[in-house]
Amino acid sequence: MMKGIVLAGGLGTRLHPITKGISKQLLPVYDKPMIYYPISVLMTAGIREVLIISTPDDLGGFEKLLGDGSFLGMSFTYAEQAKPEGLAQAFIIGASFIKTDPVCLILGDNIFYGSGLQQKMQRACEMASDQNDPKATVFGYYVNNPGRYGVAEFNAENKVISIEEKPLEPKSNYAITGLYFYPNSVIEIAKTIEPSARGELEITSVNERFLQQDQLNLELLERGYTWLDTGTVDALSQASDFVEVIEKRQGLKIAALEEVAYEMGFISKEKAVELAKDLEHSAYGQYLLERFK
Ligand code: G1P
Repeated sequence: MMKGIVLAGGLGTRLHPITKGISKQLLPVYDKPMIYYPISVLMTAGIREVLIISTPDDLGGFEKLLGDGSFLGMSFTYAEQAKPEGLAQAFIIGASFIKTDPVCLILGDNIFYGSGLQQKMQRACEMASDQNDPKATVFGYYVNNPGRYGVAEFNAENKVISIEEKPLEPKSNYAITGLYFYPNSVIEIAKTIEPSARGELEITSVNERFLQQDQLNLELLERGYTWLDTGTVDALSQASDFVEVIEKRQGLKIAALEEVAYEMGFISKEKAVELAKDLEHSAYGQYLLERFK
């Protein structure tokens, strides 16, 4: 079974002073904590066992918020990343959790929205789980500032031929998003890559290795999708505005985990109503009560 890892580490220095006393991924994006969004993505992919990695200082906050996950029909466990030594370190820290399974990594500050994502993730799960011909999947998204991200280069046949981390001269506008599906071999690969100039085990180095082995599938998230990050005050505020606009227009919430758990069949209706009642003093809880009527 595909395992999930949410990496919610980092010092959030670009959001100081906001993140001096609290983890960035616990900040609200409109009406719920940021980490709800990536967790809902994993749940939508059908992933039930999730490891949450954060700093020693912040881990307690996540445990308080999410517990062992059983209330959602999920299993959450926790591990520390003592220093921000790169995204790829997640597979070394998480090796005993991943065991012999394939694994999906999602960054705790990435927000994805779009109705076809579930299908794309199912495909990615199947490809990473294939015993004979396992392949990793990463997702490319057209942005106006690719140099902030890992950037894909394509040949004339639209096949990805390189990925560069934060290039000064990006070879395309396609950023690699913070959602990655890997075969189990990612653990061994993470153990052998070298730290970059910024002293981190780069996820881009892992992706390059899969590309060299002809085991990298790049899936585009076309323009109908939304991918937001929340690294700066402006980006965070824009993400909040985006969620507010959609939720108010539809009267449906994005990433309400109790609702996702119920719709995915992870919890019963009785359990869902019980969870909603526990939250009845907030608008979020009132929404759930209405949905579970
Ligand atoms: C990281 C990765 C980068 C990826 C981005 C997605 O960048 O290194 O390849 O495109 O996440 O959010 P960071 O946020 O660590 O600068």
